Amino acid sequence: MTDRTFLAIVLAAGEGTRMRSTTPKVLHEIAARPMVAHVLATARAAGATAIAAVVGPNADAVAKVATKAGADEIFVQADRLGTAHAVLRAREAIARGVDDVVVLYGDTPLVEAATIGRVRARLATGADVVVLGFETDAPTGYGRLLTEGERLVAIREEKDATDAEKAVRLCNSGIMGLSGEAALSLLEAIGAANAKGEYYLTDAVEIAVARGLEAAAVIGDEEEFLGVNDRVQLARCEAVFQTRRREAAMRAGVTLIAPETVVFAADTVIEADVTIEPNVVFGPGVRVASGARIRAFSHLEGASVGEGATVGPFARLRPGAELGRDVHVGNFVEIKNGKVAEGAKVNHLTYIGDATIGPKANIGAGTITCNYDGFGKYLTEIGAGAFVGSNSSLVAPVKIGDGAYVGSGSVITKDVPADSLAVARGKQSMIEGWATKFRARMAKLREKR
Ligand code: UD1
Ligand code: CA
Repeated sequence: MTDRTFLAIVLAAGEGTRMRSTTPKVLHEIAARPMVAHVLATARAAGATAIAAVVGPNADAVAKVATKAGADEIFVQADRLGTAHAVLRAREAIARGVDDVVVLYGDTPLVEAATIGRVRARLATGADVVVLGFETDAPTGYGRLLTEGERLVAIREEKDATDAEKAVRLCNSGIMGLSGEAALSLLEAIGAANAKGEYYLTDAVEIAVARGLEAAAVIGDEEEFLGVNDRVQLARCEAVFQTRRREAAMRAGVTLIAPETVVFAADTVIEADVTIEPNVVFGPGVRVASGARIRAFSHLEGASVGEGATVGPFARLRPGAELGRDVHVGNFVEIKNGKVAEGAKVNHLTYIGDATIGPKANIGAGTITCNYDGFGKYLTEIGAGAFVGSNSSLVAPVKIGDGAYVGSGSVITKDVPADSLAVARGKQSMIEGWATKFRARMAKLREKR
């Protein structure tokens, strides 16, 4: 990597009307992470030494998310007067002095750090303006890159282009690098004499060329520059992200039996030699350790799965579920805020909420921890090697001691000492021969009819 300083400016002031949403566009999520947070993470991964985000008026929510995702400074663009106007809101940050400035869009979430690295590399070899372009068969709506041989001479916006210029298939992704030295003076020279009456960032190219500075294009892959203006494009970006993520997981040693059916969150961590069966969904905050198997149709969120554990099919791990090594969590089991220690089994039809389960404990089918009384949440503690019989209700707060047994169908409201048996259900009563007599009586009644 280079030791050049790098200011990333992320434009996030768009209105996003076509999303038809009360949520600002850049807060819509790709892989359970707001779009703008993807861009900020990428900027950081590309080596940004400072990140400025430009947000619209009344965009406190965007500012908050951007700050949490790593923006050092937030600037507000009160009137949307164009991309150059937006970049100039961050004047203060640019004026501090920096080697590389790169402008990114908050609604273009798939750009990769390596691609930004290529823009910076071109700045480092002396270019003053570097534009990331791509070839496309559908150029309508994009600014066209006008070149003379190797040199980039201008960018023409669709609305200002002649027919000959419209025929150009080399388009502007919107991502632009500027040398820190020239940036402010180029941006300040941009006017609004064009079809839209906006301050076009793209005009920086022509201005640089007129001044005898060097402008260059770096070409990337169209897919990486997919922007989001509506929910159809949001879904398209999601699909691209998921495809990349699945491939990365498989290359890192994770088996995906039907990769196209597994949905990752941006922060999912899966170690090598994990197998993921079809139709598994990862929400944010999941870690899965080596050797684990996540069986079909499971949903995990805010959970960690220990080495060699198995989860599902049809299991739900909610925030705070922590499974130790070799734990088994089976079908139709839900675990929320529950620590399940090494080798314990919770195999069928169970709800574990606000609980700790000791090593090698066995939780029978249909066990429910009754953790909530409508006001507070209470803890259930189950000891090492304890055995909870099927269809038991454990009414928290309550403790089941190490090695204790709970008889099936019990409603446990008092602590159970270690190595004892608790049975809390109606006693079984028997009447010998009752069924024989009953059937005889019924047969007689039928004859009479
Ligand atoms: C822009 C480029 C175009 C490029 C295209 C790629 C200009 C003049 N044109 O066009 O060459 O092909 O992106 O998608 O730069 N924004 C603000 N404040 C503003 C205006 C825009 O923050 O005042 C933000 C938007 O939220 C968006 C981005 O800048 O994230 C691009 O703005 P948009 O108006 O969509 O530009 P395009 O017309 O698509
Ligand atoms: Ca756009």
